[in-house]
Amino acid sequence: MARETWATRAGFILAAVGSAVGLGNIWRFPFITGQYGGSSFLITYLAFVALIGFPAILVEFVIGRRTERNPVGALRELGSGVWAYAGWLFVVTGFIILSYYSVVAGWFLRYTLIGITEGFTATDPAAANALYESVSTGLDTLLFHAVFMALVIGIIAAGVRRGIELSVKVMVPAILVLLLGLAAYGFTLDGASAAYSYYLAPDFGTIAANWTEILPAAAGQAFFTLSIGMGVMITYASYLGEDRNLAADAGIIATLDTLVAVLVGFVVFPVLFTVGIEPGTGGPGAIFVSLTSAFAGIPGGRAIGVVFFGMVGIAALSSAISILEVLVSYLIDELGVARVPASVALGVAVFLFGVPVTIDLVFLNLYDLLADGILLVLGSLLLALFVGWVIPDIAREELRKGIADIGGLGDAWIWAVRIPIVIVVIVSLYLGIVDYVGFLTGDFAEWLAAR
Ligand code: PFF
Repeated sequence: MARETWATRAGFILAAVGSAVGLGNIWRFPFITGQYGGSSFLITYLAFVALIGFPAILVEFVIGRRTERNPVGALRELGSGVWAYAGWLFVVTGFIILSYYSVVAGWFLRYTLIGITEGFTATDPAAANALYESVSTGLDTLLFHAVFMALVIGIIAAGVRRGIELSVKVMVPAILVLLLGLAAYGFTLDGASAAYSYYLAPDFGTIAANWTEILPAAAGQAFFTLSIGMGVMITYASYLGEDRNLAADAGIIATLDTLVAVLVGFVVFPVLFTVGIEPGTGGPGAIFVSLTSAFAGIPGGRAIGVVFFGMVGIAALSSAISILEVLVSYLIDELGVARVPASVALGVAVFLFGVPVTIDLVFLNLYDLLADGILLVLGSLLLALFVGWVIPDIAREELRKGIADIGGLGDAWIWAVRIPIVIVVIVSLYLGIVDYVGFLTGDFAEWLAAR
């Protein structure tokens, strides 16, 4: 059977934007930005997207389009020796990320439903926290995890054109429209001007004083939010089948993804400042707690809350499908399994692997710190080394196709990939490993001992 391809250029771009825009932009970005001081983090993150993220997307694009294969097959075709096995890392990373991504996406579905049926009534943080605890673990959490995975499986089983392309053509514009509406609403709130100065006024002193923490956090966020380091962009580019301008496409994707993250700040920070909540207090759960209590206290908060949580659910879905597609494309290309059984079997396996996360949040950290802090970064490192040092000529040639006048871009790109990206990624990897070892010997060891 002929391998599938995208029907249109817009389909490919929307699918890649759909993958990039997700929980990373809407859930992770505001609380990380809050943790690292607002504008200081924002500036560093923007620099990383442009200098590191954009070239790293191109790395995956050239590999995918060149080979028209899944990540495992692609590296096996282009590389020899150990490189032939490097693609396996992506399959493992994708499997782990999707398993908890789906659980967290399920929380958002549940919050949307709560907003519709009951509204957000918990104005004080303790009640909002109790709600968060009931949403984040337990049997209902398992149920919503199952519903979300069923949606992901359904879209991927339907194929590249009828499943992914069709669904992102609806989902991505919907996210953009909803978000613009929410940001306009944020503008009308009392806390807006305080929020804007917190978020936008540059503060280089804070960056200089905290760069050892801000730099790796911004680098990690840039990779996660752009979906790089686990072969999604290799897989999506492998369905291109013709010579488009990859640099232009990567530019559009990085710009739209960044725009969404920045706009989310224009929604979340005015809401928090209006009810007097300090952004960045408390980590991943905090955004739920602070937002639900804020939605309970501002005019029109219930409707705004439903739209906000629903939008995050859609954004998570358009990202989750890209992760399952990496795994499924591997089974289809390498083992000749048909699309539908491959989607169902892998989707169910991922669902089962995510079950512990619905029981105890310690597993969320166990999976996330490993996949996000180490495996994704390691994947980016391997890809940068591979393209920069093993196949630079092939990569440059592939990039040149579809670009009328490439000028010095090809060389500048290869050098960005060879040295700066590798350095930033190695530093992030080191810090990620230190963090994970700290977690395993600290919180996780204590949790085990208490069993
Ligand atoms: N980019 C997605 C987000 O920002 O939520 C998350 C993600 C998707 C990460 C796919 C990695 C990936 F391969």
